[in-house]
Amino acid sequence: MKTFEVYNLFDIEIEKAKGSIVWDKNGIEYLDLYGGHAVISVGHSHPYYVQKITDQLNKIGFYSNSVKINLQDQLAEKLGRLSGYEDYQLFLCNSGAEANENALKLASFENGRKKVIAFKGAFHGRTSLAVSVTDNPAIQAPINENENIVFIDLNDFETFDKQLDENTCAVIIEGMQGVGGVKSPSVEFLQFISQKCKQVGALLILDEVQSGYGRTGQFFAHQYAGIRPDIITVAKGMGNGFPIAGVLINPEIEAKKEMLGTTFGGNYLACAAGIAVLEIIENEKLVENTLSIGTDLMDRLKELDGVKEVRGQGLMIGIELFEPCAELRKRLLTEHRIFTGASSDKNTIRILPSLAITKSEIDHFLKVFSAVLEEKVPS
Ligand SMILES: Cc1ncc(COP(=O)(O)O)c(C=O)c1O
Repeated sequence: MKTFEVYNLFDIEIEKAKGSIVWDKNGIEYLDLYGGHAVISVGHSHPYYVQKITDQLNKIGFYSNSVKINLQDQLAEKLGRLSGYEDYQLFLCNSGAEANENALKLASFENGRKKVIAFKGAFHGRTSLAVSVTDNPAIQAPINENENIVFIDLNDFETFDKQLDENTCAVIIEGMQGVGGVKSPSVEFLQFISQKCKQVGALLILDEVQSGYGRTGQFFAHQYAGIRPDIITVAKGMGNGFPIAGVLINPEIEAKKEMLGTTFGGNYLACAAGIAVLEIIENEKLVENTLSIGTDLMDRLKELDGVKEVRGQGLMIGIELFEPCAELRKRLLTEHRIFTGASSDKNTIRILPSLAITKSEIDHFLKVFSAVLEEKVPS
Protein backbone atom coordinates (compact mmCIF):
# COMPACT_ATOMS: atom_id res chain seq x y z
CA MET A 1 0.00 0.00 0.00
CA LYS A 2 1.19 3.54 -0.75
CA THR A 3 0.67 6.43 1.63
CA PHE A 4 -1.71 9.18 0.56
CA GLU A 5 0.15 12.37 -0.28
CA VAL A 6 -1.36 15.01 1.97
CA TYR A 7 0.59 18.11 0.91
CA ASN A 8 3.59 19.08 -1.19
CA LEU A 9 6.48 17.81 0.88
CA PHE A 10 9.79 19.27 1.97
CA ASP A 11 12.25 16.60 0.85
CA ILE A 12 13.59 16.20 4.40
CA GLU A 13 13.20 13.34 6.85
CA ILE A 14 13.29 14.64 10.40
CA GLU A 15 14.56 12.10 12.89
CA LYS A 16 14.92 13.93 16.16
CA ALA A 17 14.23 17.29 17.73
CA LYS A 18 14.92 19.35 20.83
CA GLY A 19 13.55 22.80 21.65
CA SER A 20 13.51 24.75 18.39
CA ILE A 21 16.05 22.54 16.63
CA VAL A 22 15.31 19.48 14.47
CA TRP A 23 17.81 17.07 12.89
CA ASP A 24 17.31 15.13 9.69
CA LYS A 25 18.34 11.51 9.11
CA ASN A 26 21.80 12.65 8.01
CA GLY A 27 22.33 14.57 11.25
CA ILE A 28 21.87 17.98 9.59
CA GLU A 29 20.52 20.58 12.00
CA TYR A 30 17.63 22.95 11.21
CA LEU A 31 16.10 25.87 13.09
CA ASP A 32 12.35 25.31 13.30
CA LEU A 33 10.38 28.54 12.95
CA TYR A 34 7.26 26.73 11.85
CA GLY A 35 6.59 24.15 14.57
CA GLY A 36 4.84 21.82 12.13
CA HIS A 37 1.89 24.16 11.37
CA ALA A 38 2.09 26.14 14.67
CA VAL A 39 1.76 23.04 16.83
CA ILE A 40 4.98 23.08 18.84
CA SER A 41 4.24 25.35 21.76
CA VAL A 42 6.66 24.40 24.57
CA GLY A 43 9.45 23.11 22.32
CA HIS A 44 10.18 19.74 20.76
CA SER A 45 10.78 16.84 23.14
CA HIS A 46 10.66 19.01 26.25
CA PRO A 47 12.02 16.72 29.03
CA TYR A 48 9.14 17.42 31.45
CA TYR A 49 6.57 16.76 28.71
CA VAL A 50 8.31 13.53 27.67
CA GLN A 51 8.48 12.38 31.30
CA LYS A 52 4.81 13.09 32.01
CA ILE A 53 3.61 11.22 28.91
CA THR A 54 6.00 8.31 29.58
CA ASP A 55 4.87 8.02 33.22
CA GLN A 56 1.24 8.08 32.12
CA LEU A 57 1.79 5.43 29.45
CA ASN A 58 3.36 3.18 32.06
CA LYS A 59 0.13 3.44 34.09
CA ILE A 60 -2.66 3.51 31.49
CA GLY A 61 -2.79 5.07 28.03
CA PHE A 62 -6.41 4.81 27.07
CA TYR A 63 -9.88 4.22 28.29
CA SER A 64 -13.01 5.73 26.77
CA ASN A 65 -15.35 8.35 28.21
CA SER A 66 -17.51 5.62 29.71
CA VAL A 67 -15.46 5.92 32.92
CA LYS A 68 -14.48 8.91 35.04
CA ILE A 69 -11.10 10.25 33.88
CA ASN A 70 -9.85 12.51 36.62
CA LEU A 71 -7.06 13.91 34.43
CA GLN A 72 -9.73 15.67 32.34
CA ASP A 73 -10.80 17.65 35.41
CA GLN A 74 -7.18 18.53 36.20
CA LEU A 75 -6.69 19.73 32.63
CA ALA A 76 -9.92 21.75 32.67
CA GLU A 77 -9.01 23.33 36.01
CA LYS A 78 -5.55 24.40 34.76
CA LEU A 79 -6.80 25.62 31.41
CA GLY A 80 -9.58 27.60 33.08
CA ARG A 81 -7.15 29.23 35.49
CA LEU A 82 -4.44 30.09 32.96
CA SER A 83 -6.84 31.35 30.31
CA GLY A 84 -9.18 33.28 32.62
CA TYR A 85 -12.18 31.11 31.68
CA GLU A 86 -12.64 29.22 34.95
CA ASP A 87 -16.43 29.19 34.70
CA TYR A 88 -16.55 27.61 31.20
CA GLN A 89 -16.99 23.88 30.48
CA LEU A 90 -14.40 21.97 28.48
CA PHE A 91 -15.29 19.35 25.85
CA LEU A 92 -12.20 17.43 24.77
CA CYS A 93 -11.70 16.07 21.25
CA ASN A 94 -8.82 15.40 18.87
CA SER A 95 -8.29 18.07 16.20
CA GLY A 96 -9.04 21.65 15.31
CA ALA A 97 -11.61 20.72 12.68
CA GLU A 98 -13.39 18.48 15.15
CA ALA A 99 -13.46 21.26 17.74
CA ASN A 100 -15.03 23.68 15.24
CA GLU A 101 -17.46 21.03 14.02
CA ASN A 102 -18.66 20.53 17.59
CA ALA A 103 -18.74 24.27 18.30
CA LEU A 104 -21.03 24.93 15.33
CA LYS A 105 -23.23 21.98 16.21
CA LEU A 106 -23.51 23.16 19.79
CA ALA A 107 -24.47 26.67 18.66
CA SER A 108 -27.23 25.25 16.49
CA PHE A 109 -28.48 23.01 19.31
CA GLU A 110 -28.59 26.08 21.53
CA ASN A 111 -30.63 28.46 19.38
CA GLY A 112 -32.16 26.09 16.83
CA ARG A 113 -30.87 28.18 13.90
CA LYS A 114 -28.73 27.42 10.82
CA LYS A 115 -27.24 30.54 9.27
CA VAL A 116 -23.54 31.15 9.94
CA ILE A 117 -21.45 34.22 9.23
CA ALA A 118 -17.81 33.42 8.43
CA PHE A 119 -14.97 35.53 7.03
CA LYS A 120 -13.07 35.78 3.77
CA GLY A 121 -9.65 34.19 4.11
CA ALA A 122 -10.85 31.98 6.97
CA PHE A 123 -9.58 28.47 7.62
CA HIS A 124 -11.45 26.32 10.12
CA GLY A 125 -10.59 22.75 9.05
CA ARG A 126 -11.52 20.09 6.55
CA THR A 127 -14.47 18.17 8.00
CA SER A 128 -17.96 18.91 6.72
CA LEU A 129 -19.14 21.96 8.68
CA ALA A 130 -15.61 23.19 9.35
CA VAL A 131 -14.75 23.18 5.65
CA SER A 132 -18.05 24.81 4.73
CA VAL A 133 -17.08 27.85 6.85
CA THR A 134 -13.56 27.80 5.34
CA ASP A 135 -13.07 30.27 2.51
CA ASN A 136 -11.44 27.92 0.01
CA PRO A 137 -13.65 26.31 -2.64
CA ALA A 138 -10.73 24.12 -3.77
CA ILE A 139 -11.00 22.01 -0.60
CA GLN A 140 -14.81 21.85 -0.54
CA ALA A 141 -16.33 18.80 -2.23
CA PRO A 142 -19.83 19.20 -3.70
CA ILE A 143 -21.19 17.41 -0.63
CA ASN A 144 -19.75 20.16 1.58
CA GLU A 145 -21.68 22.93 -0.17
CA ASN A 146 -23.78 24.63 2.46
CA GLU A 147 -26.25 27.38 1.59
CA ASN A 148 -26.42 28.54 5.21
CA ILE A 149 -22.98 30.15 5.18
CA VAL A 150 -22.29 33.81 4.34
CA PHE A 151 -18.69 35.02 3.92
CA ILE A 152 -17.90 38.67 4.58
CA ASP A 153 -14.70 40.73 4.75
CA LEU A 154 -12.83 40.95 8.04
CA ASN A 155 -13.43 44.28 9.78
CA ASP A 156 -16.38 45.19 7.53
CA PHE A 157 -18.76 46.62 10.13
CA GLU A 158 -21.46 47.61 7.68
CA THR A 159 -21.83 44.28 5.87
CA PHE A 160 -21.71 42.43 9.16
CA ASP A 161 -24.54 44.58 10.46
CA LYS A 162 -26.58 43.91 7.31
CA GLN A 163 -26.00 40.15 7.37
CA LEU A 164 -26.56 39.50 11.07
CA ASP A 165 -30.21 38.85 11.83
CA GLU A 166 -32.50 36.81 14.04
CA ASN A 167 -31.93 33.75 11.84
CA THR A 168 -28.20 33.81 12.48
CA CYS A 169 -27.07 30.79 14.46
CA ALA A 170 -23.40 31.70 14.86
CA VAL A 171 -20.52 33.87 13.80
CA ILE A 172 -17.22 32.02 13.55
CA ILE A 173 -13.97 33.97 13.47
CA GLU A 174 -10.28 33.24 14.04
CA GLY A 175 -8.62 35.16 16.89
CA MET A 176 -6.06 35.95 14.21
CA GLN A 177 -6.26 34.45 10.71
CA GLY A 178 -3.31 32.12 10.20
CA VAL A 179 -3.62 30.25 6.91
CA GLY A 180 -5.15 33.44 5.43
CA GLY A 181 -1.81 35.24 5.88
CA VAL A 182 -1.77 36.47 9.51
CA LYS A 183 -4.62 38.97 9.37
CA SER A 184 -6.35 40.24 12.50
CA PRO A 185 -9.84 41.36 13.28
CA SER A 186 -9.47 44.77 14.92
CA VAL A 187 -10.21 45.18 18.62
CA GLU A 188 -13.17 47.43 17.70
CA PHE A 189 -14.52 44.88 15.23
CA LEU A 190 -14.37 42.04 17.78
CA GLN A 191 -16.13 44.21 20.35
CA PHE A 192 -18.76 45.21 17.79
CA ILE A 193 -19.58 41.67 16.63
CA SER A 194 -19.63 40.40 20.21
CA GLN A 195 -22.17 43.02 21.21
CA LYS A 196 -24.27 42.57 18.04
CA CYS A 197 -24.38 38.78 18.44
CA LYS A 198 -25.81 39.19 21.93
CA GLN A 199 -28.54 41.47 20.61
CA VAL A 200 -29.87 38.89 18.10
CA GLY A 201 -29.12 35.71 20.05
CA ALA A 202 -26.40 34.50 17.65
CA LEU A 203 -23.46 32.69 19.22
CA LEU A 204 -19.94 34.01 18.79
CA ILE A 205 -17.40 31.24 18.17
CA LEU A 206 -13.75 32.22 18.50
CA ASP A 207 -11.48 29.81 16.65
CA GLU A 208 -8.26 29.99 18.66
CA VAL A 209 -6.91 26.73 17.19
CA GLN A 210 -3.83 28.49 15.85
CA SER A 211 -3.84 31.84 17.66
CA GLY A 212 -4.53 30.45 21.15
CA TYR A 213 -2.40 28.96 23.90
CA GLY A 214 -0.25 32.03 24.32
CA ARG A 215 0.87 32.33 20.72
CA THR A 216 0.00 36.02 20.35
CA GLY A 217 1.28 37.06 23.77
CA GLN A 218 -2.11 36.74 25.47
CA PHE A 219 -3.54 33.33 26.31
CA PHE A 220 -6.13 33.92 23.55
CA ALA A 221 -5.79 36.48 20.76
CA HIS A 222 -9.35 37.76 21.32
CA GLN A 223 -8.39 38.78 24.86
CA TYR A 224 -6.75 41.88 23.38
CA ALA A 225 -10.35 42.99 22.75
CA GLY A 226 -11.58 42.13 26.25
CA ILE A 227 -14.57 40.13 24.94
CA ARG A 228 -15.96 36.85 26.25
CA PRO A 229 -17.12 34.65 23.36
CA ASP A 230 -19.86 32.03 23.71
CA ILE A 231 -17.60 29.26 22.46
CA ILE A 232 -13.81 29.06 22.04
CA THR A 233 -12.01 26.31 20.16
CA VAL A 234 -8.43 25.21 20.80
CA ALA A 235 -6.08 22.58 19.35
CA LYS A 236 -2.58 22.97 17.88
CA GLY A 237 -0.41 24.23 20.78
CA MET A 238 -2.56 22.41 23.33
CA GLY A 239 -0.70 19.09 23.08
CA ASN A 240 2.65 20.24 21.63
CA GLY A 241 2.15 17.57 18.96
CA PHE A 242 -0.03 15.11 20.82
CA PRO A 243 -3.45 15.17 19.11
CA ILE A 244 -5.81 16.95 21.49
CA ALA A 245 -8.34 19.73 21.02
CA GLY A 246 -11.04 21.39 23.06
CA VAL A 247 -14.27 23.36 22.98
CA LEU A 248 -14.66 25.91 25.80
CA ILE A 249 -18.34 26.50 26.48
CA ASN A 250 -19.82 29.58 28.16
CA PRO A 251 -21.84 28.65 31.27
CA GLU A 252 -24.90 30.36 29.77
CA ILE A 253 -25.10 27.70 27.05
CA GLU A 254 -27.23 24.71 27.90
CA ALA A 255 -24.79 22.02 26.83
CA LYS A 256 -26.32 18.70 27.78
CA LYS A 257 -25.05 15.14 27.88
CA GLU A 258 -25.10 13.27 24.54
CA MET A 259 -25.10 16.47 22.42
CA LEU A 260 -21.39 15.91 21.79
CA GLY A 261 -19.36 12.73 22.00
CA THR A 262 -16.06 11.10 21.09
CA THR A 263 -14.17 7.84 21.54
CA PHE A 264 -10.61 9.11 21.73
CA GLY A 265 -11.19 12.66 23.04
CA GLY A 266 -9.88 13.30 26.55
CA ASN A 267 -8.00 10.02 26.87
CA TYR A 268 -5.33 9.61 29.55
CA LEU A 269 -2.33 10.20 27.32
CA ALA A 270 -3.83 13.25 25.66
CA CYS A 271 -4.68 14.74 29.06
CA ALA A 272 -1.18 14.03 30.39
CA ALA A 273 0.26 15.84 27.36
CA GLY A 274 -2.20 18.73 27.76
CA ILE A 275 -1.48 19.15 31.48
CA ALA A 276 2.29 19.03 30.93
CA VAL A 277 2.01 21.75 28.26
CA LEU A 278 0.07 24.06 30.58
CA GLU A 279 2.48 23.45 33.46
CA ILE A 280 5.45 24.29 31.24
CA ILE A 281 3.72 27.40 29.85
CA GLU A 282 3.08 28.58 33.41
CA ASN A 283 6.40 27.60 35.02
CA GLU A 284 8.59 28.87 32.20
CA LYS A 285 6.50 32.02 31.68
CA LEU A 286 6.15 31.26 28.00
CA VAL A 287 3.33 33.72 27.30
CA GLU A 288 5.56 36.50 28.61
CA ASN A 289 8.50 35.17 26.56
CA THR A 290 6.28 35.11 23.47
CA LEU A 291 5.30 38.74 23.90
CA SER A 292 8.80 40.09 24.49
CA ILE A 293 10.61 37.98 21.88
CA GLY A 294 7.81 38.42 19.34
CA THR A 295 7.57 42.20 19.78
CA ASP A 296 11.34 42.56 19.38
CA LEU A 297 11.35 40.32 16.30
CA MET A 298 8.51 42.22 14.66
CA ASP A 299 10.16 45.59 15.33
CA ARG A 300 13.42 44.42 13.78
CA LEU A 301 11.70 42.83 10.78
CA LYS A 302 9.91 46.10 10.03
CA GLU A 303 13.27 47.80 9.53
CA LEU A 304 14.44 45.45 6.77
CA ASP A 305 14.52 46.54 3.12
CA GLY A 306 12.45 44.19 1.03
CA VAL A 307 9.78 43.75 3.69
CA LYS A 308 6.47 45.32 2.70
CA GLU A 309 4.53 44.69 5.91
CA VAL A 310 4.90 42.79 9.17
CA ARG A 311 1.62 41.58 10.67
CA GLY A 312 0.61 39.69 13.77
CA GLN A 313 1.37 39.71 17.44
CA GLY A 314 3.64 37.71 19.74
CA LEU A 315 5.02 34.71 17.86
CA MET A 316 2.33 34.58 15.20
CA ILE A 317 3.99 36.70 12.57
CA GLY A 318 3.32 37.28 8.87
CA ILE A 319 6.11 38.85 6.83
CA GLU A 320 4.74 40.21 3.56
CA LEU A 321 7.27 40.73 0.80
CA PHE A 322 6.85 42.70 -2.43
CA GLU A 323 6.89 39.46 -4.42
CA PRO A 324 6.06 35.75 -3.96
CA CYS A 325 8.04 34.26 -1.08
CA ALA A 326 8.36 30.63 -2.26
CA GLU A 327 11.89 31.01 -3.64
CA LEU A 328 13.15 32.82 -0.56
CA ARG A 329 11.61 30.22 1.76
CA LYS A 330 13.27 27.50 -0.28
CA ARG A 331 16.65 29.21 0.10
CA LEU A 332 16.12 29.62 3.84
CA LEU A 333 15.48 25.92 4.10
CA THR A 334 17.99 24.40 1.72
CA GLU A 335 20.91 26.82 2.11
CA HIS A 336 20.44 28.10 5.65
CA ARG A 337 18.50 25.24 7.26
CA ILE A 338 15.59 27.28 8.56
CA PHE A 339 11.97 26.10 8.43
CA THR A 340 9.32 28.79 7.85
CA GLY A 341 5.66 28.61 6.83
CA ALA A 342 3.67 29.68 3.79
CA SER A 343 0.10 31.00 3.71
CA SER A 344 -2.69 31.39 1.19
CA ASP A 345 -1.24 34.82 0.43
CA LYS A 346 1.69 33.99 -1.89
CA ASN A 347 3.78 36.95 -0.69
CA THR A 348 3.47 36.23 3.03
CA ILE A 349 5.83 34.04 5.08
CA ARG A 350 4.49 32.77 8.38
CA ILE A 351 6.76 32.60 11.43
CA LEU A 352 5.28 30.30 14.08
CA PRO A 353 8.09 29.03 16.31
CA SER A 354 7.89 27.40 19.70
CA LEU A 355 6.91 29.87 22.42
CA ALA A 356 10.18 28.92 24.12
CA ILE A 357 12.39 30.14 21.26
CA THR A 358 15.45 32.01 22.48
CA LYS A 359 16.78 35.43 21.62
CA SER A 360 19.95 33.98 20.09
CA GLU A 361 17.90 31.74 17.78
CA ILE A 362 15.89 34.79 16.69
CA ASP A 363 19.12 36.79 16.18
CA HIS A 364 20.44 34.01 13.95
CA PHE A 365 17.25 34.02 11.88
CA LEU A 366 17.32 37.81 11.46
CA LYS A 367 20.95 37.77 10.35
CA VAL A 368 20.28 35.11 7.73
CA PHE A 369 16.94 36.57 6.64
CA SER A 370 18.30 40.09 6.10
CA ALA A 371 21.25 38.71 4.13
CA VAL A 372 18.97 36.64 1.88
CA LEU A 373 16.66 39.62 1.41
CA GLU A 374 19.57 41.95 0.61
CA GLU A 375 20.68 39.70 -2.22
CA LYS A 376 17.23 40.14 -3.75
CA VAL A 377 16.76 43.88 -3.21
CA PRO A 378 18.20 45.92 -6.12
CA SER A 379 20.65 48.54 -4.82
C1 LIG B 1 -7.55 28.51 12.71
C2 LIG B 1 -7.61 27.04 12.42
N1 LIG B 1 -8.73 26.36 12.71
C3 LIG B 1 -8.83 25.03 12.49
C4 LIG B 1 -7.79 24.32 11.93
C5 LIG B 1 -7.93 22.85 11.67
O1 LIG B 1 -7.20 22.14 12.60
P1 LIG B 1 -6.86 20.58 12.34
O2 LIG B 1 -5.91 20.53 11.20
O3 LIG B 1 -6.27 20.14 13.64
O4 LIG B 1 -8.15 19.92 12.05
C6 LIG B 1 -6.60 25.00 11.60
C7 LIG B 1 -5.47 24.27 10.99
O5 LIG B 1 -4.57 24.83 10.42
C8 LIG B 1 -6.51 26.38 11.86
O6 LIG B 1 -5.40 27.08 11.55
